[in-house]
Amino acid sequence: MIVTKELPGVRWLEILTKADCTVEICTSMRVLKPDQIQAAIGSHCNGAIGQLTEDWDEKLLAALCAAHGEVYGNYAAGFNNVDVHAATRLKIPVGTTPGVLTEATAEMAVALTFAAARRIGESERFLRAGLFEGWLPTLFVGELLWRKTLGIIGGGRIGQAYARMMVEGHKMNLLYYDPSPNRDLEEYVAAYGDFLRSQGQQPVSCRRTAQVEDLLMEADCVSIHTVLNQTTHHLIDAKSLSLMKDNAILINTSRGPVIDEAALVEHCRGHPSFRAGLDVFEEEPQLKAGLAGLDNVVLVPHIGSATMWTRQGMAVLAATNIAAMIMGYPVWNRSDVSLFLSNDPPKAAPSIVNAKELGLPACRLEA
Ligand code: DGY
Repeated sequence: MIVTKELPGVRWLEILTKADCTVEICTSMRVLKPDQIQAAIGSHCNGAIGQLTEDWDEKLLAALCAAHGEVYGNYAAGFNNVDVHAATRLKIPVGTTPGVLTEATAEMAVALTFAAARRIGESERFLRAGLFEGWLPTLFVGELLWRKTLGIIGGGRIGQAYARMMVEGHKMNLLYYDPSPNRDLEEYVAAYGDFLRSQGQQPVSCRRTAQVEDLLMEADCVSIHTVLNQTTHHLIDAKSLSLMKDNAILINTSRGPVIDEAALVEHCRGHPSFRAGLDVFEEEPQLKAGLAGLDNVVLVPHIGSATMWTRQGMAVLAATNIAAMIMGYPVWNRSDVSLFLSNDPPKAAPSIVNAKELGLPACRLEA
């Protein structure tokens, strides 16, 4: 089987070796082109672990299938780079790595939020340039988020973890936009509100908005935690940006194309008090013209999940998906994947996104 990049840790390799896989690892640091991946697949390859930077389209998946490939594993929680419909047609299970990125990505969203709110990037550049001549009442005045309104778009695992960090840590009232209600999150904020009240403090609140526009108009800080699909592509465009407060903060750690990046550049140019923090970009690794020159935007190179624990955990999950499919194991049926990192991991595939469509058996464990 092939792995298109070197992965952190050693355990993932042990998992594949134990499943009798001969593993070929592409050591290039560059993003591989489809023909390079196809050449690496060759005529016999029973599985592949690929990256979010690679387009696993029908052609590539068909090449994997023709080489007797039984499974594809994305080294990512997101899978917008994989044609899952084509994989299903070709009877290839598609593995992903959710569950170990939650806290790391939420922490990055928090880091970007405060970097944007408190102007960390521009003030550090100013200091390093030797321009600091002493404390001033007006030097790099930013935004206080304490007790303000937070809006999250996407109330899944990462959105929820970020919301908890911000609500608890900074006593923010929460608005969330998601097609489905998140009762856990609502109950969590309600219980925390009760606790604050019991301490004689003002409680916090949580409300799901029916329209994303309502959230954009009301929130002081908006963080995006949605998947990328046809309904979320350019969800944030010139029109939605115009609804936001002039001094609002916009954070994106999900996928770049959720924001119309050219529209964001224009908006930030025209609204110097508006701030954005971006970990992901519309045409990664390229940035839209003008973005890098904006002082009111904080930019980091898609490192939301970049902690050693997380990246090693992703490697273990990616390898376990492959090994489990090769061994004919069932598919895990719980969102908690922590057991896969233990010394006695379940005999199952942690996450196969087209398991149902392929009729793969689920673990006989209570959810
Ligand atoms: C993912 O796994 O989808 C993340 O974007 C990687 O950081």
